Order: sequence, then structure tokens, then C-alpha cells
Amino acid sequence: MTQDPDHIVIFDTTLRDGEQALHQSLSLRQKLQIAEALEELGVDVIEAGFPISSEGDFQSVKAIAGTLTRSIPCGLARALEKDVEACGEALKLAPRRRIHTFIATSEIHVRDKLRKDYGQIRDMAVAAIKCATKYTDDVEFSCEDAGRTPLDELCRMVEAAIDAGATTINIPDTVGYTLPAEFGGIIRHLKNTVPNIDKAVLSVHCHNDLGMATANSLTAIQNGARQIECCMNGLGERAGNCSLEEVAAAIHLRREYLKGLKTGIHLEKIARTANIVSKITNEPIPAHKAIVGSNAFSHSSGIHQDGVLKNRETYEILTPESVGFSGNVMHMTARSGRHMIKSCLDQMGYPPDSYNLSELYKRFLALADRKGQVYDYDLEALLFSMRQEEDDEAFVLDQFNVVSGSGGVIPVASVRLFAGRRTRTESAYGNGPVDAILNTIVRLTGIKTKLLTYKIEANGEGRDALGRVNVTVEYDNRIFHGMGLSTDILEASALAYINAVNAVVRHLRVQAARKGKTFKLPAIGTLL
Ligand code: KIV
Ligand code: ZN
Repeated sequence: MTQDPDHIVIFDTTLRDGEQALHQSLSLRQKLQIAEALEELGVDVIEAGFPISSEGDFQSVKAIAGTLTRSIPCGLARALEKDVEACGEALKLAPRRRIHTFIATSEIHVRDKLRKDYGQIRDMAVAAIKCATKYTDDVEFSCEDAGRTPLDELCRMVEAAIDAGATTINIPDTVGYTLPAEFGGIIRHLKNTVPNIDKAVLSVHCHNDLGMATANSLTAIQNGARQIECCMNGLGERAGNCSLEEVAAAIHLRREYLKGLKTGIHLEKIARTANIVSKITNEPIPAHKAIVGSNAFSHSSGIHQDGVLKNRETYEILTPESVGFSGNVMHMTARSGRHMIKSCLDQMGYPPDSYNLSELYKRFLALADRKGQVYDYDLEALLFSMRQEEDDEAFVLDQFNVVSGSGGVIPVASVRLFAGRRTRTESAYGNGPVDAILNTIVRLTGIKTKLLTYKIEANGEGRDALGRVNVTVEYDNRIFHGMGLSTDILEASALAYINAVNAVVRHLRVQAARKGKTFKLPAIGTLL
């Protein structure tokens, strides 16, 4: 990583703090897709997960550590040796790696959560940092809830952490409590008071509970912090973390005011990354979200429109193109060739080795036959569904048929799906066509979940948009999510529900593996 004193290290925690706040956990493939997009964006450090927390997290951190070539992979660990060791193991494939260990330092956390005193937590932090230095010389230490920590205790902890070998000291405003001048003051105080502070990079990690996360992070860098921890689209616990796109755009746009501070973020890739993260996490971007919301560059009032027509800069501080919004929606038809598809995906930032062009083209032609015009966002949706299927899914939809109508017709569905290499076929009725399909899938898969939410919306614009269905289901006191996309909303419903059932199967496989067993798919007619 560059040693340039004006370089602000961008540490992204979408896959850790962001993921921990999602309704469902992401699959390994999804995490890899996000990590690759963040690396393309120019993120310096990617916090890939919390390896001790689950086998899934351990494997994802390991896979991401083995994949990244430019960004530094990082894993989170409580200040406990077993956590640090799991982290060190998960990261060991990476030539450069960071272990991030933390302990809470505010009075309320030390007294009521940890039930320890300051001397004890300092000893734990020092032991954890020393253990981490056996695996890497890039060790980050965080004082959780630093924003509410007495300054003298914070200084003592930071000094001890640096002496023990921490090379980055992170100051989180864990509960988003501080105001910008106050938070900037904490950073300044540390800079002026801690004797060995120059041996470490000062970092900040701000939550957005009072809507201050971006402002607090910017004030911190004006006071000497040189790393900002953030999430794409402002994801994260509760009201979220500082949003990556906001700090990156602000540091770039206000570089003169910020006296030449800069990041390595490729601003023109912001829109693409925001879109990939939103699709994969299934967290829509609010229309009014700064930088990446659909209204961020649209002008509604007559006075504004008039101004923009005369000179865009009257009401636009950034151009949409500078953050990667092209403004042109590309469209294709059944006459478009493979080359067109490839160049369209190239422009959207999908390299040719990230998908199977022949398979994609086959699906594109089928979609173009059904839909006429295919837009770039449809192509992306196709790619997304293909990747979902490649996830070694337990059940894959083959075909379905529904009979439904008014005047007392009982809706009946027949569904055929693949369970491994074998097909299963069943029929069932329901109180509507979607209910009939879902009942049939329950019979076919043998997995009975409780449907919590079912949401349908258009993916794209106009009458020929694809239907996107999102469902959440409960099984084993946990919530699982599924998404399906199709020109046919009933098919989208079936795909979404099967996707959720597949997530349940993944969970059951992990549970069985923990007991040293192999999970077998239930036979038709049995219910788990
Ligand atoms: O908000 C927080 O304090 C955290 C730490 C683990 C860095 O997420
Ligand atoms: Zn956090």
C-alpha cells in the first residue's frame, strides 16, 4: 500500500459490517463477486468476514484471500486468541493480509457487556495483537465504541496497542453518537497526546445513527486520520456505515479544500459497483441516496431544469458520467450477435472470463423471442440468474404449468424440477396460482417453510420489464431469502421460492457437516 501521506486508505466492510445487517447471509459465490467488484473499484483493504463466526464465513474469507491480487484481504477477530488464530488460518493464502482485532472500550461496554476492568481489557487487547503478529505484520486494532470512551482510557489503550504491534488503530463511532467537531476533536487529541501515535495509521469507522457518518469521517481525515472504513451504498448495522461512494466523491470533488487528500477509488466505477452490491444483497438503493440514487442527477423543478439547460453546473456539482452513469440504456433484439452482447457486458464492467458467453447468448435469444427488446439491465439480470444456478443448487426448476381462472376454477399447478440429476414431478392446488406453485414445490422438495414475505416488482421500465420476485421464508427459527427473475411472474415466483429452499438446504448441509454427517435431500412426500 502506498505510503503517500495524502493517501486516504479506503477500507471496505460491506462483506462484514454490511453483511451482518442483511436479512440473509450471502453465498460464497456472491461474496466473491462483491469482493472482485470492490477490487476493481480500487478499494485498498477488503474486510471479507469474521472467520470464527461460522464455517461459511471462514470459507469465504479463505476464498477471497486466495482471489484478491490488488486489494488487501482482512478478517475480523475479537480480542481472543482462538478468533485471531481462525483469522490467521483463513487468510494464510494471501501474500498480503490484515488481521483486524477489537475490544470495546466505553464504560458501558466494559462494565455491562464485558464485565471487566480497563486493565483486563488492555491485557486482552495486547495478547490478541501479539498473537496476530505471528500471522502478519499488518495488524489493525479497534476500540469498539471509541466515540463514547473516556479520552484518557482511549489514549492508554491506543498506546498499549501500538506497543504490542498494531499498525493501524481504528476509532469506531460504533453507535453513531458523536457530532463532526466532537469526533474530529477525538482524532486530534489522539494525534497530539499518544506518544507512539506516528507508528500507526489512524483509522475511523463511523455509523450513521444520526446521519453523521460521512461528515464525521471527513472531519476525522482533516484532523489526521488516514483510513476510512465504509460500506458500499452505506450498508451496515442499523442505520448503516459511512457510505463509500459519498466519502470517495467528496474527497475527490473537494480536494482543494481538503488540501490534496486523495483516494485510489476509480470514481467512474461507482455506479456499477453500487448496482452489483444492491442486486446481490437485494438491498434497493433509495431514489434520493447521494451519488448513486436514481434521483441524484435528475432535476424536477422548472427553475432547476431551466438552469441545467443553460449550464449544467448551476445545479450539478458532479456529472453523472463522472461516477459511471452513462445515461444511455443500450437495447438489443434477437438479431443482435454475440459480439454485441459481449461489448455491452464489457461496458457494464463484466469481463468475458466472468461468464459463459454461449450459455448466456442462448438465454438472451430465448428472452429476445419472448420480449422483443432486451435492455442492458435485462442482460445483467440473465447473468445474475445464471450465476445463481451455478451455485451447486439442490433444486433447479425444469418446467411448470398452472391452470387458474375466475368463476370457481380451482388453481392447480404442476411442476417438474431437478433434484441433482433426477427429475421430480408433482401437482397441487392452492387458493391462487402462486399458492398452487408454492404448495407443489413444498411437496417436491420435502421442505416446509413459513412464507414471511412475497414481493413482486418490475426490473426495468415499461410494459416489457422483467418481473422480479423476492421472498423471505422462515425455517428452523432462521430467515432465508430467495429471488427470481423472469418475463413470466409465475415463473419468477417459482424461481424465487426454489432459491429460498436451496438456501435452507445449504443451511441443513452445514448443520449436518458439523455433526460429521451428510445431508440427504428428503424424498417426495416426506416433510422436513
Ligand atoms: O462498529 C464497530 O465498532 C465495529 C467494530 C468491530 C470495528 O464494527
Ligand atoms: Zn461497525
